[in-house]
This record gives sequence, C-alpha cells and structure tokens, in this order.
Amino acid sequence: MKFDVTEVLPLENDVDGLIVYMFEGELPEILDKADKLLKGEIKRCFKRGEFNGKDGEAYTLPTYWKSGPKKLIITGLGKRDKFSLDRLRSASAIGAKEARRFKLSSILSTVFDEEGVSEEDAVCFMVEGSMLGLYCFTELKTKEDNNREYPKRWLVSVANLKTGKKDVRKYIEQGRILAESVNFARDLVNRPGNVLTPSIFAKEAEKIAKKSGIKCNILKLKEIEKEGMRAFLSVAKGSDEPCRFIVLDYRGGRKDERPVVLVGKAVTFDSGGISIKPSAKMEEMKYDMSGGAAVLGVMRAIGELRSKVNVIGIIPAAENLPSGKASKPGDVVKSLSGQTIEIISTDAEGRMLLCDALSYGLRYKPRFMIDLATLTGACTVALGNHAVGIMGNDPGIIERLKKAGDRSGERLWELPLWDDYDDLIKSDVADMKNVGNRSAGTIVGGMFLKRFVKDTPWAHLDIAGTAWAEKPSACMPKGATGVGVRLIFELLKK
Ligand code: BES
Ligand code: ZN
Ligand code: ZN
Repeated sequence: MKFDVTEVLPLENDVDGLIVYMFEGELPEILDKADKLLKGEIKRCFKRGEFNGKDGEAYTLPTYWKSGPKKLIITGLGKRDKFSLDRLRSASAIGAKEARRFKLSSILSTVFDEEGVSEEDAVCFMVEGSMLGLYCFTELKTKEDNNREYPKRWLVSVANLKTGKKDVRKYIEQGRILAESVNFARDLVNRPGNVLTPSIFAKEAEKIAKKSGIKCNILKLKEIEKEGMRAFLSVAKGSDEPCRFIVLDYRGGRKDERPVVLVGKAVTFDSGGISIKPSAKMEEMKYDMSGGAAVLGVMRAIGELRSKVNVIGIIPAAENLPSGKASKPGDVVKSLSGQTIEIISTDAEGRMLLCDALSYGLRYKPRFMIDLATLTGACTVALGNHAVGIMGNDPGIIERLKKAGDRSGERLWELPLWDDYDDLIKSDVADMKNVGNRSAGTIVGGMFLKRFVKDTPWAHLDIAGTAWAEKPSACMPKGATGVGVRLIFELLKK
C-alpha cells in the first residue's frame, strides 16, 4: 500500500472509498454534507440505527455519484469521553479492513481533527492503524489470498490541516516505518521453529543492519565460550541447532552520549528442555523469541528513520531442547558475571540467556538497560493479555516507560522487586538458583535478573501475556502481536 497526500477536498476526490471517523451518536460535519448530496439517505440509516459510531463498528454505503468517492466507510470511535489514541488507531484499522473486504483500490482518509490531538499524532496513528490492521501472515501458504493487494493507494487529505504537505509526508513516513517494523517483528514471531532458527535470526539481523547503517556483530559458539557466557550456553547445548549472540550497534546521537542498551530473549523454540513442557499448546512456544524480535524491530525503525539516539541491541538466540547433551536439573554453571547458578528447572531458560546478555550489556556503560522477554507463564496468570509486566531498579525509567506505554497503547503494570523476595532464589550449593517455589513467579524472574545489572538503571518487561494474541482485534490478527516495538520506539523518541 502506497501513501500520498492530497489537497483536494474529501468529497471531491475521485477515489473508491472515503473513510470517515465518527464518535458514537455524533454525525460528523462531512457526513452532513454527504447526506445532502444523498438526499437524506445517511441520516435515515443513522436514525434507523444501521450505524452509530460504536467502537469497532464499520458501515459502508455506496454513493452512486458520478465523481467523488464511490463508497463512504464510516468507522466508529466509540464514546467521546472514552476517547484514546488507541481508538483512533483501531478505527483506522477497521476502515482499512473494510476497504480490503470490498476490494477498493484507492482510499482517502480524512485526518482526525479534534482538540487535544496533534495533527502529527492524528496522521501517524492513522497510518499505523491501517497497516497494523491489514497485517496477515501468509508467507507459508502456497495459495495467494487475492484480496491482499487491496487497498493499493491510501490518500491523506490535508485540505483542512494547519500542517503543510511536507510535514504531513514526514509523519506518514514515521507511521509507515514504525508499523512496518512491528509487522516485521510479527513475521519473525509467527515463523515456526524450523523456519526461524537462531542462525536464521542472526541473518535477519545482519540484513536489517546492512540496510540501515547499523553495526552488527554475531558471536558464534567458539566466541561465546571464550567470553564465558556459560549460563547462555547451558540453554543452547541441548540442541543441534547452533546458537547465536547478536549485537547491534546504532549511533545516531551525540558522540559523547552513553547508549541505551536493549536486550531481547530469543528462544526460537522452548520445549522446556529436560524439564519438558506438557505437549498441549507446546507449538506456541515458537513465540518465545518475541523479546528478540521486538528489539530487532526497534533497531529497524530507528535505523530507517535515522533517529538521533545511540542504541545497542543485544539478542541472545538459542533453542531449548532435551537431549543427551542438555543441561539437567541440579547442574551448576558459572555466568559471565562470575556468579554461579544452580539450574533447578531447565524450563526457566530465559533468565539464563538474559543474565549473560545483561552482563555483556554493562560493557557499554549504558544510560539505562531494558530487557524484553516472554519470561514467565505466571505473568499471563497475573495480568492476562492486556498488560506487560514491568519491574526494575529505577523509578524514573519505569515511569517513562509507563508513559510511553499509554501513548503507544502497549500498557504496562508494575510488580515490586523488594529485597524480601530475594530469599526465594537462595541456593544451597551455588550463588543462586534459577527458580523459586510456586509463589511470585514473575517477580522471581525479575529478582534473578536484578542480580546482574549492578547499579545501572534497568527495567525488565515480561511480555509472556502480550506477545501472542489468542483472539484477533482491530489492529492485530491472531498470533504474534509485535508488542514492544511501538513502546520502546515511543520511549526513545522522547
Ligand atoms: N517461555 C516460558 C514462559 C512462557 C510460558 C511464555 C507461557 C509464554 C507463555 C519460560 O521459559 C518458562 O517456561 N518459564 C517457566 C518458569 C518456571 C519454570 C519458573 C514457567 O513460566 O513455567
Ligand atoms: Zn521455558
Ligand atoms: Zn522460555
């Protein structure tokens, strides 16, 4: 889909469809005008209750005009007092899907124009919403779904905007690249374990780096051993699939500015290892690399947009399988930090990979570090699918992330990392063990990682519940959500 801007008034543009946003029960001015041209038909439909502007609602009606839009697509924003930027994104997604359903080639969309929403946000969120809503994962299907090419052209009407064409184009570009990066992360996550192995993940990272002027260093087994990342290796060694430790280095900010370090868990398949998982839904554990995909998605976005920040992305990638070479419960390994870990469960592998990656990240003397990981099933029990669990050692970074979460629509909920919880990971034989008892599973994951960040400001995002959608919604189909990309991008933008 190609975006462009037009100065022609919406009702005078010869397009296949015109998308109009509508608050619940409030017919917008533009529909008033269209209604006159349609001899009162819109108002009659409205009065009959055929559409009302409810959240998630779409209503399409033909105009039969000789010129101007061939169809009007009315998308609901829901009640005015419940408005959020997320609603705007969803309304745009629903409009885009409606356009695809009717195989409309050219679409014109008005820009949401209400007090309290900047024109930049209105344009960005509209573009994001349309692209996120139209996403589907088809690369493994041999029969092409022929509706995918629609809509082909998406025009943004600047007729009533204060912002000039040039800036609107810039906003469109930002929304487009960000949404593409989310969809790129979704593609990685939706790929099954045999299609996205750690080495293929590394190749994807190299491709992104090459295209966007990012330095990329891929550590293989020998180098990882030499570094002493034995916690990471304790996970990888059960699989015949070679592991990779991916480091991306993007410098768009001032030379003297310390970088932000992002770390993403990339277990391309988590069987649990010797502590093997039950077989029901085990296939979903291909999404255990969602943290890594989010980090790569963010690097792609800032690279393509030439953002003025310094960011290091670290992605430890491995497969967690049982075998004669796999780690066993009771094994003790020495991490890169020098601390020893007793492996109680080989299924708590994410923290083993992350602790070495966090230690590695400290070398960059980061301003702050953020890790993203599908770390605990307990996070889904606690927060369901609507909130990312956030923990950390620095109230400032947590607060900023929460704000970014509200704007990006990827909301966060904090859990405490009080010292009292630290007892849960005391080991009889090593410096710590990798799991606690049954209580506070998500916090225990956080407490474990906290031991590896020293006094660097750090936040841990548990995305186990938010990285995979069981049910489709406006901006995403079932499956990978790409969570984290918009959130971290929003944070870095600020
Ligand atoms: N990848 C899982 C966590 C997970 C579970 C993510 C379900 C998404 C959905 C992680 O490696 C894991 O298995 N964690 C264990 C931790 C436990 C052994 C302390 C878990 O959640 O059961
Ligand atoms: Zn696991
Ligand atoms: Zn896992």
